[in-house]
Parts: sequence; structure tokens; C-alpha cells
Amino acid sequence: MTGITIFETVAAMREAVAGWHAAGEKVALVPTMGALHEGHIALVTEGQRHAKRVIVTIFVNPTQFAPHEDFKKYPRTFDDDCAKLVAAGADAVFFPAVEEMYPAGFATRVLLLGPAAVGLEDRFRPTHFEGVATICCKLFTQSRADHAIFGEKDYQQLKVVTRMAADLDLGIDVIPLPTIREADGLAMSSRNRYLSEEHRALAPLLHQVMQDLAARLRNRDDLLKAVTEAQNAIITAGFELDYLEARHAETLAPVASLADGPIRLILAARIGSTRLLDNIPV
Ligand code: PAF
Repeated sequence: MTGITIFETVAAMREAVAGWHAAGEKVALVPTMGALHEGHIALVTEGQRHAKRVIVTIFVNPTQFAPHEDFKKYPRTFDDDCAKLVAAGADAVFFPAVEEMYPAGFATRVLLLGPAAVGLEDRFRPTHFEGVATICCKLFTQSRADHAIFGEKDYQQLKVVTRMAADLDLGIDVIPLPTIREADGLAMSSRNRYLSEEHRALAPLLHQVMQDLAARLRNRDDLLKAVTEAQNAIITAGFELDYLEARHAETLAPVASLADGPIRLILAARIGSTRLLDNIPV
């Protein structure tokens, strides 16, 4: 017993949404891969601010994982997720099988430019965003929801999906929500549960370094020098740093000084086998 309406098919979700729309009710979609935490629940709460009905999608999307990545071991905690969604007052869960989303013969991907091709996540996960965009495009058109709520934690993803929804006239309004953090500053993520005790204790350093860097940039320190020193602090602490960069907050293009802003600091770093993402505004 999950205590929440579960749609396993697109047809069932569409029928419910059509009924809600016929009753004049707006619908918000919260796309997730499950293993829900407080950050996801905040997305549900944000959805409830914009719409009478909130559907949470739970689908570990194979096309956004490269063969060497953690698709198989990605945490799947469906019953626990449903209990959290009941407590949060979500209306329904869309929980499709892989065959529902990618039936035999499926052969389409969304081709992305702009914020998907700026040398951040796309440099390290070259096929990731086409998988994310393809599944989000499907979820948006399948659900016909009015709003989709995305966390800023995956900042490049947010920009990619927002751009795609506008460019392809998907008729859905993508609403961002600031990152939800643990008390020590670590950005909440389903992958945090991979961290050993030792690495969990180290992980908040990423946010601290970014905050110090943001303060330096606001004080008009030399950008290149300040970014390089922040990168070194992270590497010295024992992380493998994929990137820590100052980028334009909208285009994600590189910036040379505060005057090129608004600036977003964007980071990906590995500790042990866990890859952590974070970003903050300057
Ligand atoms: O951010 C995520 O959890 C996933 O990338 C998303 C948006 C649910 C697409 O699978």
C-alpha cells in the first residue's frame, strides 16, 4: 500500500490531467529519478504554490547515463518515496516502466545547442543532456502539465530544459527553485548517500570554498587568480575537481570579470566514487 495514486501509463496520467484541466485546475510536474530527499519535497511544495495538482515523476532514465555510470546502482526506494509524497500532499506519482517510455524501435533524441554545449557537464558527460532533454520533452508532452519545477542544484540542466521548453514551444512553464542544503551547506542530492562517513565530513568544504570565492569576486578580487586559488583549495583537500568556473548565469558563457556578469559559480568534483555538483550566484 503506497497511499498515493500511481500512474504507470501515459494514458492514465493524461486522463487524470484532462479531468483536472476540465475542472479548471492547473497541474505542476516534478520530474525526479526517485530516492527522494527534502530537496525534492521542496519542489513539490513549490509546485503546490503554482498549481492545485502536483504529479511527481519517478523514472531512472537510462538514456542520460553513460555505460560506465551508476544507472544500475542508482538508489531505487519507491515505497519510501511514496510515503514522503503522501506526507507532502502530492496528488500522484507517474512511475512508468522503461518500455512505456522507450518502446521497441524508439530512435529519437533531442539535439541541443546553447547552454548544453558550454564545456561544463557536457565536457564530462557528453551524452547526458540529450538523454535528460529527451525524457523531459516526453514527460512534458505526455503530462500536458502547466508548470515543471526544477531545482537549481543541477544548474546547467535547469538552463538546458528551460531553453528546450521555450524553443520547442512545449507549452510548459519551467520554474526554478534554489538549492536545498544540509545544515552544513552540502547541497542535497540522491547521490549523497554514496558518501562514506569520511567523505561526507569533507563534502561541505565545496560550498565553503564557493562562498569564499563569491565573496572575493564581490570584493572585486582578480577573477582568474581567485578562481585558481579556489580550485587549488578543493584539490588540496583531496577532491578530484572536474570543474569550478565562473560563468554567465544565463548563457553559461565564460566570464573574465564581475562586469561580464551576472555570474554563477559552477562546480563538479569527485570524492571517492561520488560525483558532487554545486553552484551559487555571486
Ligand atoms: O534531475 C533529475 O533527477 C533528472 O535529470 C530528471 C530531470 C528527472 C530527468 O531524468
